[in-house]
Amino acid sequence: MHTASLLELRKFLAPESVFGAGAASLAGRYVQNLGARRVLLVTDPGILELPWFPGVLDSIHTAGVKLELFSDVHANPRDFEVMHGAEMFRAKACDSIVAVGGGSPMDCAKGIGIVVSNDCNVLEFEGVDNVANPGPPLICVPTTAGSSADVSQFAIINDTTRKVKIAIVSKAMVPDVALIDPLLTLSMPPNLTAHTGVDALTHAIEAYVSNAHGPTTDLFALEAVKRIARHLPRAITRPEDAEARAGMMLGSMYAGLAFSNAILGAVHAMAHSLGGLMDLPHGQCNAMLLDHVIAYNFDSAPDRYADIAQAMGARLSPSASHDDKLQAVLAQVRALKAAVGTTEGLASLGVTPAHLDGLTAFAMNDPCMVTNPKAPTAGDIRAVYQNAL
Ligand SMILES: [Fe+2]
Repeated sequence: MHTASLLELRKFLAPESVFGAGAASLAGRYVQNLGARRVLLVTDPGILELPWFPGVLDSIHTAGVKLELFSDVHANPRDFEVMHGAEMFRAKACDSIVAVGGGSPMDCAKGIGIVVSNDCNVLEFEGVDNVANPGPPLICVPTTAGSSADVSQFAIINDTTRKVKIAIVSKAMVPDVALIDPLLTLSMPPNLTAHTGVDALTHAIEAYVSNAHGPTTDLFALEAVKRIARHLPRAITRPEDAEARAGMMLGSMYAGLAFSNAILGAVHAMAHSLGGLMDLPHGQCNAMLLDHVIAYNFDSAPDRYADIAQAMGARLSPSASHDDKLQAVLAQVRALKAAVGTTEGLASLGVTPAHLDGLTAFAMNDPCMVTNPKAPTAGDIRAVYQNAL
């Protein structure tokens, strides 16, 4: 892989953020600060039922800002959901957006913002730097410790015609404010905690070995790996443990700052393709692919993967061989997957050899593949899918 010199030009983008217990209740103050008069609040049906949700609405009402609710968003947000949200934004004369939820409502909200400011279909923004006009002010309140859409310049939208997830990557997608409240994650069920947590780990690992890494993203990526490895198993076995939840939320935020700026790699390119075809949870797709991609990529960045193994708790001597490092990183990642219960293979979810050519074709075209430390052929990617069956 390409290892960046300290002299290489690197940009680092991050939104204003507030982290800690009670951050969500600042939504009203922040919409007021942004000059909002009528907010479109984007969320999903599950969030509407949660006990803390009325408090977020109250804080916006108390600030004297009008509010329209759009909750017609589902996991893996669809292109038409974004377009419906944009219609509502226009019809109700909204001027700003608050997203409350996991990656799906936040990505949908980002899509709504750029659709209303550019007056076109959300699928037209696919790829890197294809957003001409930034959207209206956007505040994100994440409710999972994983997607980090609240700090990233990514939005992932499901193209329902082609059955593939498209990536929109642009500076215009970085929210204005992230209100990151770990207490909102206390009610996440174990499987959601596991899937979103492994997604965060994958963000950190892919950012650390990315061709676009730099000294600032390295700092966040390695620290994210340490915190996620330490806190994820505890957040699953003791879901009410607020310290473990805060550790995961901070690890996820660090991972988000790393991958938003260093971009990702083959795990995400392949997971986007898989998630689009089979409509599976994004984190679960990553979990099924992560160790197989590491085994494929390893020889392009052995020392970086050794750093990751050590950040996860492996002990490697200075004289450790190439193979010692490979076995160490695979053992750490597989042990964490086992500890959090994400060990299933692709076949158990209905993927068959007949799917592999289509999955490979979409993965090869995903923008995340560009920063993978090793440039794969279609045959390489097909073989990784095959190994993960
Ligand atoms: Fe992800």
